[in-house]
Amino acid sequence: MLRTFVVAGALLLSVSAVVAQQDIVDKTQKLMKDNGRNAMLLGAMAKGDKPYDQAAVDAALKQFDETAKELPKLFPASVKGLKAFDSKYSSSPKIWDERAKFDAEIADFAKAVNAAQGKIKDVDTLKASFQPIGKQCGSCHETFRLKDG
Ligand code: HEC
Repeated sequence: MLRTFVVAGALLLSVSAVVAQQDIVDKTQKLMKDNGRNAMLLGAMAKGDKPYDQAAVDAALKQFDETAKELPKLFPASVKGLKAFDSKYSSSPKIWDERAKFDAEIADFAKAVNAAQGKIKDVDTLKASFQPIGKQCGSCHETFRLKDG
């Protein structure tokens, strides 16, 4: 009887640990989806498909900055192999196998975002500063993001 309780307790503990790990994976996905939305918006403004909007530019940069600060915390060993529930992309195992390279990608992304802060004032400066940020999104995805299915 006691044994059953102990086993059930251990099972519960591991279930809640998995839920916590899943929360991290889902948080990463939400952050990346917001990145995607903001990058599309800035891209459309740079091309002249959407009118320039300083508040939206500032909000996007703030969100990229938040991403750069969160990314180092979002890939503990315990989330390796987990996927977000509703996802077309997932994290490559290379994140954990080539950690130093992944950390360098985060640092380069942060650098590009910091360099843009306070510099974007119009379409021309948007083009100049957004391009290096977009390049870093792509550079990290190329090695560390997998397309599912
Ligand atoms: C340091 C690495 C890194 C950087 C920088 C990065 N990403 Fe990602 N991104 C990932 C990984 C890993 C995934 C896969 C995990 C996921 O989908 O949650 C991902 C997934 C995505 C997805 C798919 C989300 C989904 O699951 O539907 C989008 C969209 C995205 N990123 C956009 C961006 C944009 C835009 C930028 C730049 C502003 C950016 N990312 C910067 C690593 C990065």
